[in-house]
Amino acid sequence: MEENKAFLPQGTSPETVYQDASLHNMEDQKTTTVNKLWPSNWSKKTRTVVAAIGVIVIILVTIPTIIILRRRDNNKLHNTYPDYHALNYTLSERWQGTNFFDNFDYHSTPDPAAGFVNYLDQATAESTNLTYAGEASAFLRADSTDTNAKNGRSSVRITSKKQFHTGLFVFDVKHTPYGCGTWPAVWMADPSDWPGNGEIDVVETVNQGNTGNQMALHTSKGCKMYSRRVQTGTIQGTNCYNGTNDNAGCAVMGASSSYGAEANDDGGAVYAMELRKAGIRMWIFNRDSPPGDLRQNNDTHPDPSSWGFPIADFPSTNCNIESHFKNQSIIANIDFCGSWASSVYSTQFKCPGKCEDFVATNASAFEKAYWEFASFRIYSVEE
Ligand SMILES: *[C@@H]1O[C@H](CO)[C@@H](O)[C@H](O)[C@H]1NC(C)=O
Ligand SMILES: *[C@@H]1O[C@H](CO)[C@@H](O)[C@H](O)[C@H]1NC(C)=O
Ligand SMILES: *[C@@H]1O[C@H](CO)[C@@H](O)[C@H](O)[C@H]1NC(C)=O
Ligand SMILES: *[C@@H]1O[C@H](CO)[C@@H](O)[C@H](O)[C@H]1NC(C)=O
Ligand SMILES: *[C@@H]1O[C@H](CO)[C@@H](O)[C@H](O)[C@H]1NC(C)=O
Ligand SMILES: *[C@@H]1O[C@H](CO)[C@@H](O)[C@H](O)[C@H]1NC(C)=O
Repeated sequence: MEENKAFLPQGTSPETVYQDASLHNMEDQKTTTVNKLWPSNWSKKTRTVVAAIGVIVIILVTIPTIIILRRRDNNKLHNTYPDYHALNYTLSERWQGTNFFDNFDYHSTPDPAAGFVNYLDQATAESTNLTYAGEASAFLRADSTDTNAKNGRSSVRITSKKQFHTGLFVFDVKHTPYGCGTWPAVWMADPSDWPGNGEIDVVETVNQGNTGNQMALHTSKGCKMYSRRVQTGTIQGTNCYNGTNDNAGCAVMGASSSYGAEANDDGGAVYAMELRKAGIRMWIFNRDSPPGDLRQNNDTHPDPSSWGFPIADFPSTNCNIESHFKNQSIIANIDFCGSWASSVYSTQFKCPGKCEDFVATNASAFEKAYWEFASFRIYSVEE
């Protein structure tokens, strides 16, 4: 009995084993087990030596096997890459000009992202000129007059009436909003099923917006980005599941010139996002020099494979893009504080005081907190 104990899994008492074998007579079982393990004439020393050799052999076989299997997995991950062959994209939506905002609903109930904001309805946003659409540009801005916005600063969040499962989305942006306390974004999600139908953040940053544009996916369980990717941006996280890392998402960061004052001074930026079964890819171009097929009045079929490396690449290798991303509305907004802008407000961005105090009182600090859109274009593939 004594010797037998050493060969049971840790934490298992011999009694447990016998209980499992309860169909047999216990005494019989005890004898049989001992006889099968050791020839009865082996000394205690021999048994110990044989046992030690056994353990060493098991270790010598198991460890290399695990290493080989891991390597094979890694190689598979690094060699597997989706087929992003050229698709024949045709313009299906062009939202620009004086009726730009007709394509959207205004979200005027409390902020689902829990920011320090007062989202206005369409009538109020238009009468206070927080949204304004002219021939050449559509403006969406935060209030910059209220010096006592104690329930959150007035701002706007619009959600497109149309939803999309796939497509090539081109956001032509003349001015990106920034300033201490701001949390602006142009992104896609299904407001009636989050994160079930996925979230794609195309343009997003916080505070002064001088640390680059952050692109990210947020999903339900089972979407990871640790496989081979072709992109120029910097990886910030690889698990897109909203239940990991406080919902940080799988993010990729662009260069500082990809957002904010630097991008605005360069004449603005064109943010392009391709959503297809093979994966999700994003590119950012200077507005003055986009690829020829993205120029405002070019009616050719744009071909992302001719644009060079994307800044962000979210391949379908370990994420079923088709099942994780459905019914995507285009959303544009300017939020304040909230989890992200607040957490880095003073530490990373050295903004003054407390985020909510600053947002409530320092009205003039929000004069640069506006989006100016030249157009949103959506290309689809006839299938
Ligand atoms: C692309 O689609 C359009 C119709 O949307 C068609 O006229 C054109 O021939 C197609 N081009 C190619 C290369 O298939
Ligand atoms: C509304 O905003 C637009 C764009 O900034 C501006 O051209 C227009 O003069 C503003 N209208 C009013 C009434 O302030
Ligand atoms: C993630 O999504 C689930 C499902 O909607 C939700 O219950 C949970 O609170 C979310 N977690 C975070 C950190 O957002
Ligand atoms: C349209 O795009 C194509 C492909 O990049 C380019 O060859 C062509 O010159 C462009 N046309 C115009 C009018 O910009
Ligand atoms: C997408 O939206 C349509 C229309 O609202 C709805 O019928 C459908 O169930 C939605 N699909 C998913 C997967 O949520
Ligand atoms: C208000 O904002 C301006 C511009 O961002 C800044 O220079 C100023 O210090 C702020 N004032 C206070 C009281 O925080």
